[in-house]
Amino acid sequence: MLEVKNLKTVFRVGDKTVHAVDDVSFEIKEQQVVGLVGESGSGKSVTSTSILNLLPPNGEITSGSVNFKGQDLLSLSKKEMRKIRGNEIGLIFQNPLAALNPVFTIGNQMIETIQLHHKVSKLEAEKEAVSLLKKVNIPDAETRLNDYPHQFSLGMCQRIMIALTLSMNPSLLIADEPTASLDVTIQAQILSLLHDLKKEFKMSIFLISHDLGVIAQSCDYILVMYLGRIVEKGTPHQIFKNPQHPYTQALISSIPVPDPDHNTAATLLKGDIPSPMNLPSGCRFHPRCPKAFSDCSAINPSLIKTNDSDVACLLYKDD
Ligand SMILES: Nc1ncnc2c1ncn2[C@@H]1O[C@H](COP(=O)(O)OP(=O)(O)OP(=O)(O)O)[C@@H](O)[C@H]1O
Ligand code: SF4
Ligand SMILES: [Mg+2]
Repeated sequence: MLEVKNLKTVFRVGDKTVHAVDDVSFEIKEQQVVGLVGESGSGKSVTSTSILNLLPPNGEITSGSVNFKGQDLLSLSKKEMRKIRGNEIGLIFQNPLAALNPVFTIGNQMIETIQLHHKVSKLEAEKEAVSLLKKVNIPDAETRLNDYPHQFSLGMCQRIMIALTLSMNPSLLIADEPTASLDVTIQAQILSLLHDLKKEFKMSIFLISHDLGVIAQSCDYILVMYLGRIVEKGTPHQIFKNPQHPYTQALISSIPVPDPDHNTAATLLKGDIPSPMNLPSGCRFHPRCPKAFSDCSAINPSLIKTNDSDVACLLYKDD
């Protein structure tokens, strides 16, 4: 359904270049959930805005291709792309309040969106809005249509955003940190809701998060990103049972385990993620890697297939 190949995205800042996404390739098949994980600044959001042609003026895709259902998205005009975004690819963000209009009721916004996408009467659109709100578990959907966004909790607003997005009937949903602003129990509810809706609406989901623990259960595949590059790609089972990349190992060991007898020492990541304006030579993880050796500062490893996950690290040989 979606095939991203060798995607490179840069930003020009003065006379400097920010290498935000570098040679990223992955695929999302029909009704698959693919998770993208990495620290803040690793290039997760830029990957999604590149796919959707939503880069700011100083951003540029310098190479690669994005194929969605046989169409090369990077060659589409802004108008054609808007059509794809409105109908085929839905997008939800971290802060649902920023996406909802504070001066209109939820009902108004939903009815308008539904009528924009489907040729239906106002009454039919209202019925559809109620049905969608019920699907995302908003209690008293009929009466709550008359409420304004600020009358809902943040978790409920995110459900409403999901309902609004579903009203466009997208075949791919890109969810960029959809639960980051919510507390842990609500996070779990939203993810389980997305999981149920995926089946009902037969969608694929690209789920972006900086927290591997949060999205682990929800994905068919996980992509681990570090400084613009995919460093490991595998099923949740592969990633958690046998993480191969030292960065993935560090991410996993830092997930809190609620068991006082669990005494595995967390591999703490040294220092902060470097700036993509000043990339380390060789393997980008080498200044922070506990397993780095002499070649690591000279050779930038590509993603290779192994018996387990795909990994970009010089410790592994191509199978
Ligand atoms: N408009 C821009 N101009 C310059 N640099 C940018 C711009 N947008 C993003 N970047 C840089 O690109 C890199 C990747 O940013 P991105 O927003 O994709 O990170 P992220 O993985 O989504 O992080 P977070 O978890 O904080 O959302 C960062 O270093 C960021 O500073
Ligand atoms: S290539 Fe070297 S520095 Fe990079 S992750 Fe592997 S061991 Fe660490
Ligand atoms: Mg982001």
